[in-house]
Amino acid sequence: MIDRKIAFITPDMKVLILGSGGREHALVWKIAQSPLVDEVFSAPGNPGMDKVGPCFDLDPTDLTAVQELALQITPDLIIIGPEAPLAAGASDALRARGFDVFGPSQQAAQLESSKGFAKDLMKKYGVPTAEYGRFSDLTEALDYLETIEGPYVIKADGLASGKGVVIVESQDEAENTVEEFMTGKFGDASAEIVIEEFMTGEEASIFVMTDGEGAIYLPAAQDHKRVGDGDVGPNTGGMGAYAPAPIVDARIMELVQTLIVEPMLSGMADDGMPYQGVLYVGIMVTESGPKVVEFNARFGDPECQALMAGLPGDIVPALLVCSTGGLVSSHASLCEMMGLSDFRPSATVVIAAEGYPDKPVKGTIIKGVDGADRIEGVTVFHAGTDINDKNEMVAAGGRVLGVTATGDSLKAAIDKAYEGVGAIDWPGGFFRNDIGHRALK
Ligand code: AMP
Ligand code: GLY
Repeated sequence: MIDRKIAFITPDMKVLILGSGGREHALVWKIAQSPLVDEVFSAPGNPGMDKVGPCFDLDPTDLTAVQELALQITPDLIIIGPEAPLAAGASDALRARGFDVFGPSQQAAQLESSKGFAKDLMKKYGVPTAEYGRFSDLTEALDYLETIEGPYVIKADGLASGKGVVIVESQDEAENTVEEFMTGKFGDASAEIVIEEFMTGEEASIFVMTDGEGAIYLPAAQDHKRVGDGDVGPNTGGMGAYAPAPIVDARIMELVQTLIVEPMLSGMADDGMPYQGVLYVGIMVTESGPKVVEFNARFGDPECQALMAGLPGDIVPALLVCSTGGLVSSHASLCEMMGLSDFRPSATVVIAAEGYPDKPVKGTIIKGVDGADRIEGVTVFHAGTDINDKNEMVAAGGRVLGVTATGDSLKAAIDKAYEGVGAIDWPGGFFRNDIGHRALK
């Protein structure tokens, strides 16, 4: 079904995706189902993505290699999955070559690559978030700690692979953390820090697809950051996700729209750095309404896996219009093409390698993935797999598989995802047993 109102969309599209995680596998899986798309290419991709279309081995932050590949393939649309190439300026380099790119400019992507930048913009545009101080001087940071009360939230300014946020109770621990961060724990990424007021509430993730002006809101999702059941143990990239998250009801969604997303998009456009791509708004639903915990410049992972599985329609026209502009006038038809109002409840259970997040064990053999994938309603996304020289699937990362399922209800989707997990034979892996517990309680 091609909407003739969006006249420039032609069939037989070629799409290139940068990245190699579960998020990118879910995106290629969804995009390949579009009747508009002829071929999907990935770089570097993974064994799951390789089954959908050709993969090219390159480092997505190597802008020369990325541009060369794009010039060779000449895709009609390029989607940048992870934060590192966005922070490196991949989107600007590819746009300068004339490509349509889904992903923010390097400048706009600072919403994720610099926590201080994001906080300053929120303050400027009046967006609700935790009170904060931004420091590049150790003495000033230590003096500031004296003026506030715990719990203390200390954040490295730059990208630190999800490890750059520490929350401690006592002032002593806070001082130690600040000193560690500012004297090189994460190198340049923590030379500058943000110290924030502690917020209490339930967290949720809102994903907004935008061309810098218009906005499509996907159903709210919830991630499970801690490694263990009951939200215990160290933080991870995310052990599972589900959508829609009932904590974000229509009232909260409206507040997110009017108090957070609209001021951010219009403020950034007015300041000459329009935000194009997907804006990930991490919120805390506090007693006084939603407040921003963080922004990311990309889809969340594993949230993206659950979102792609739950969307019944075609996401490609919306991705393309976000990258070219014109979303406001085509908003209604794009939402309809995506099937947004018929979103199916969905859940993703991550299976990670023993030892994750500290020291995941690589090379253990994984069986049963194809069997799990054949279960009606289940799709297994690859995040950290490899194929060894005996043609066996092996673990090659921390988070290895995202077993994703949809259902008529959230409970049905979660049960189905666990049925998929049960079909996988991998003694070297582990997963959380309580994905979706907040929604089910
Ligand atoms: P971030 O990378 O900024 O999302 O922080 C990682 C996690 O730390 C968040 O998902 C929250 O669970 C927690 N966190 C961050 N900032 C705050 C805050 N100001 N108050 C309470 N918890 C926070
Ligand atoms: N799942 C959290 C993230 O993608 O940052």
